[in-house]
Amino acid sequence: MKIAVIGGGSTYTPELVDGFARLGSMVTELVLIDPAAERLDVVGAFSARILQHHGHQAKIWWTTDLDAGVTDADVALIQLRVGGQQARINDETFPLECGCVGQETTGAGGLAKALRTVPVVLDVASRIRERAKPGAWIIDFTNPVGIVTRALLDAGHRAVGLCNVAIGFQRRFAGHLGVDPSQVVLEHVGLNHLTWERAAYVDGVDRLPDLLRDHLPSLAAEVDLAQAVLQSLGNVPSYYLSYFYSHDRHVQSLIGAPTRGQRVAELEASLLEMYRDVSLVQKPALLEERGGAYYSEAAVGLIASLHGFDSSAVHSVNVRNEGLLPFLPASAVIEVSARASIDGPAVLPVSPLPPDMAGLIGHVSGYEELALDAALRGGRERVYRALLAHPLVGQHEIADPLTDLLIASGRAHLAWA
Ligand code: G6P
Ligand code: MN
Repeated sequence: MKIAVIGGGSTYTPELVDGFARLGSMVTELVLIDPAAERLDVVGAFSARILQHHGHQAKIWWTTDLDAGVTDADVALIQLRVGGQQARINDETFPLECGCVGQETTGAGGLAKALRTVPVVLDVASRIRERAKPGAWIIDFTNPVGIVTRALLDAGHRAVGLCNVAIGFQRRFAGHLGVDPSQVVLEHVGLNHLTWERAAYVDGVDRLPDLLRDHLPSLAAEVDLAQAVLQSLGNVPSYYLSYFYSHDRHVQSLIGAPTRGQRVAELEASLLEMYRDVSLVQKPALLEERGGAYYSEAAVGLIASLHGFDSSAVHSVNVRNEGLLPFLPASAVIEVSARASIDGPAVLPVSPLPPDMAGLIGHVSGYEELALDAALRGGRERVYRALLAHPLVGQHEIADPLTDLLIASGRAHLAWA
């Protein structure tokens, strides 16, 4: 199986290659594609050493030529970042001027990211479709994953969106329960970066009530929420929901503080320095300071299932709603647990959602639809409308100046602005 990684020059790539090396015996060829040639050379050579260290036989090569790289691929994994960390730092900063959270995928920052990213991903995807094997899967890790996946599906691509939030919970819950992670099946539901763990089945028994009873302080601390929130909901929201349930606290702590993008830029410089060392053959511990834990395992597991191996495994994927959440349009993209086979993901049932969760999902899904429209067609009016629709913005007096700030800060990457 040939896998093409678009954005393969990312400092995250060794995490992915490590996963293929340990788990991905089905991979015979791995090609890393990235426009940043110098960085790609460093990450490519290090990735080759990782494979070799594990005795993995796959052919690995790297190129700046997208068309050449994706030719005859069975899977294309897209993990690109338009504008690099500098654009992210802008997204994390400008919303604070209007009292809104500055975050790379949530709120106004997430909209800015969607606007510059969707056109690029759609272009990449159409070039994949022309040259990859017929029926090749696109796996999208590119944020904001929900909006980008919807853009891909609307354009007719065979795409699944993936995020590591759920697999992180699966690993942590398994650790608390003392079982193997593969034994834990989550009822994971919502939109990308707006999800709740509503159940954690082990041998058919929901152990979430036990986890909430025995590990509440650490579960709450991990998602940066008050214990009362988890207790009241009776489930475990993802970390990203703390931007909703504790919005103003986040704004207070973000004002004047270094942004996550700045920290990541420093980490990337140190990581690249390490990757240049030809004696390094395994991913360094420093990589764990990035947020991408287990993302390789999520990717390897999903790719295996989509190619007919391990059809019993459960993954959390971004797919069309198609009626699973009855309060959303069928065309909306949701993030839920699913099994997968050569026919694609097959979602697991979701028990009816309470009104607060259904309401918030509906609200943010409406925003996402407007955000995608703004990304595809551009224009100040569409950006304003999407911001006005976002629950963390929601007022004219905020959305109006925020629209101008967003466009001014993102102009370099917006063809229409
Ligand atoms: C988590 C999210 C990813 C996000 C990452 C950020 O893994 O699921 O979607 O990209 O965190 O990590 P970073 O190290 O870039 O802050
Ligand atoms: Mn994610």
